[in-house]
Amino acid sequence: MGNALIRFAGVGKTFNSSERIVCAVENVDLDIARGELITIVGPSGCGKSTLLNMAAGLFQPSAGAVFYDGAEVTAYNLKTGYITQNDHLLPWRDVAGNIAVPMEIQSRSRPDIRSRLEELVGLVGLNGFERSYPSQLSGGMRKRTALARLLAYDPETLLMDEPFAALDAQLRLNMQIELLKISRRLNKTIIFVTHDLDEAVALGDRCVVFSPRPGTIRQIIKSPLPRDRDLLQLRHDPSYIALTADLWDIITPTLAQTRGEAN
Ligand SMILES: Nc1ncnc2c1ncn2[C@@H]1O[C@H](COP(=O)(O)OP(=O)(O)O)[C@@H](O)[C@H]1O
Ligand SMILES: [Mg+2]
Repeated sequence: MGNALIRFAGVGKTFNSSERIVCAVENVDLDIARGELITIVGPSGCGKSTLLNMAAGLFQPSAGAVFYDGAEVTAYNLKTGYITQNDHLLPWRDVAGNIAVPMEIQSRSRPDIRSRLEELVGLVGLNGFERSYPSQLSGGMRKRTALARLLAYDPETLLMDEPFAALDAQLRLNMQIELLKISRRLNKTIIFVTHDLDEAVALGDRCVVFSPRPGTIRQIIKSPLPRDRDLLQLRHDPSYIALTADLWDIITPTLAQTRGEAN
């Protein structure tokens, strides 16, 4: 595929610390098309966050290269917005202040910022908490603040590291529905890392399954679900049920392997 928006070409990453050398990922070849929603699943420690960090240009691969829109990513990739596992909210700013940061950087007008803030706060269900500080929020509320801030930045590509993990089921479903809408309506490209196999199948156009560390791509599953899928009806869809079952079968042996490693 010559027209990938994001291309991982023979990517490997090794970390050298004084105590040990860790090979986090190796031999990752993956082309992601513009407008595609890719989900990544794999056992803890297999290098999922490391891949996102390289797509964001936060650090360089030790082998191979990451390309964005045809150019090698060698510095911070401004076309991407990133929700890291640790949400990195500014503790001295309240919810509204945190969400407004990207819009202030873009020098948008006060009234413009105010109306967009209202929209975003409503979207992530934080009405009434605009003046709360991060230390006063639950984990799920912090994640939602970080998501609203990402949407305020409105990047071409969204890098999302387990963004909905701390949310209760109902809220998670609402956020998933919103994310699909954003992805389809605005043709955003999204790399979405999750622990949750059901979520990976529900959201992904393709689902990339990683092996335990050093992480390599074990399998790429193309979703049989239509792009404009109805998440509320998914649990009744036979192709969804079959695919989540397949994914469990692929993942379960790797979990056993990781457990063995930990013992
Ligand atoms: N900045 C870093 N320095 C040293 N080791 C790291 C760093 N980032 C990640 N690692 C190591 O790389 C491996 C993969 O980590 P990570 O990408 O966070 O996995 P995952 O997100 O799949 O749980 C782990 O063994 C982790 O300890
Ligand atoms: Mg991680």
